[in-house]
Amino acid sequence: MSLRTIHKFPDPVLRQKAKKVTTIDDSLKNLITDMVETMYDAPGIGLAAPQIGESSQLIVVDISREENEQRSMVMINPIITEREGSQVDEEGCLSVIDLTASVKRSRKITLSYQDIEGKEQEMTVEDRFAVVLQHEIDHLNGVLFIDHLSTLKRSLYKKKVKKMLAGQKSKLNS
Ligand code: NI
Repeated sequence: MSLRTIHKFPDPVLRQKAKKVTTIDDSLKNLITDMVETMYDAPGIGLAAPQIGESSQLIVVDISREENEQRSMVMINPIITEREGSQVDEEGCLSVIDLTASVKRSRKITLSYQDIEGKEQEMTVEDRFAVVLQHEIDHLNGVLFIDHLSTLKRSLYKKKVKKMLAGQKSKLNS
């Protein structure tokens, strides 16, 4: 088990479409363990494999609020099959530092995925849980929550990141 580095925007790995998981073996299980550990350490309520630099269709989530009660869930190759309604909720992302914003999402979704045993599962979720899953599944398609914001908000954020990165560079050089 080890904590992994969370890749941050504008790292190109976050923009790749993740590869489908075809084998559930020990190395995949180790990757899942690392993801869960990294998610709790951050702390976050969801993490997608591309965020730790692994281009695999794999997410872990835990939306239980009680700190002493960790109930993480693993979803392999998740796909949203049905959507209903809409909701607007505040989102942030471990890969998008210093930004939270309101994002419009479906209110209720049905998804299919494989569990850790490779068994096909189907689940319907709504409200906050649906938001978290839509956010994490977006990561598997190279999509970040900033892509759902207005062009103006997004370009302001990109400028801010550019400035931050330039600041870091000059600090390193001095
Ligand atoms: Ni995220």
